[in-house]
Amino acid sequence: MTTPLQLTLTRPDDWHLHLRDGEALAAVLPHTARQFARAVIMPNLKPPVTTTALAMEYRARILAALPRGLDFEPLMTLYLTDVTSPQEIQAAAAAGVVACKLYPSGATTNSDSGVTRIELIYPVLDAMQRHGLLLLIHAEVTDPQVDLFDREAVFIERHMKPLRAHFPELNIVFEHITTQDAVQFVQSQAIHTAATLTANHLLLNRNAIFVGGVRPHYYCLPVLKREHHRLALLAAATSADPRFFLGTDSAPHAVHLKEHACGCAGCYTAASAMELYAQAFESVQALDKLEGFAAHFGADFYGLPRNQGTLTLRRESWQLPQSYPYGKDLLTPLFAKEHLPWRVVTE
Ligand code: DOR
Ligand code: ZN
Repeated sequence: MTTPLQLTLTRPDDWHLHLRDGEALAAVLPHTARQFARAVIMPNLKPPVTTTALAMEYRARILAALPRGLDFEPLMTLYLTDVTSPQEIQAAAAAGVVACKLYPSGATTNSDSGVTRIELIYPVLDAMQRHGLLLLIHAEVTDPQVDLFDREAVFIERHMKPLRAHFPELNIVFEHITTQDAVQFVQSQAIHTAATLTANHLLLNRNAIFVGGVRPHYYCLPVLKREHHRLALLAAATSADPRFFLGTDSAPHAVHLKEHACGCAGCYTAASAMELYAQAFESVQALDKLEGFAAHFGADFYGLPRNQGTLTLRRESWQLPQSYPYGKDLLTPLFAKEHLPWRVVTE
């Protein structure tokens, strides 16, 4: 296949996004809204979005921060804790919340209030299955005995398989998968299991964190893995299998908190998200598979209509800035100062 100079797709959605709040929200939201029609908004704020009321208030703040002229719909989620009630799930479904996020307690940024034992929330998962809310999982064990690079694979054995057996009809999204094990697990399941994939995990392996020194902007959770895992993810993303779809996991942190003795986890990709996915798909001559992955499969899995509008990418080299304004701070994107081959056309 020869590379086209321009690519027009159905307007895509981001099925996994961190927008934060306040000044940070105002700084990053335009980047996402320029490219994506909708995004699933992660609830790991401080304090977390644990109730329907908090989710509706957060939604209103997102809409208030949206620059005029940009058309964007935030899809809200609840943060599950040990004490989330089945009644809350009913209220969430009635209010239009689309999903709940399961963070194993201590697994990642602002997950301290997460679930300590998954069995504790079985009544809540039962209510979600009945009310049609999706379960989004940060699928890593927190057991300090388990090597950091094995935490996703061990989670599949310890938790994914029992969860699937107990709740066969619950729609589960295995978020930001990073391993061949996760790809194979999703492929082995029936229609109710899907996975999101980030651009960082499609483009990079774990060497990127250590080239010439420690590079904190390449550190996210789940952490980048070996090359054979990256190749398995790229094969899944470009396979036209509707169980694999786009979720950037774009996760902004002020630059001084990334470049720190104990740097925060998260790669900021929202400002160049579709450009990075196009680059990844082009690397295996699969640009013709990008539209399904970015704009069709996620909507279908969530039971939402596909978007009406379009997004155009042009094959035109451009340089990412060193940083973006981020409230009183600065935000360094992944691949800062590097040249990208694709560019979203804005006019
Ligand atoms: O790298 C990550 N950053 N992984 C997560 O799971 C959370 C996210 C964040 O909120 O910063
Ligand atoms: Zn995330």
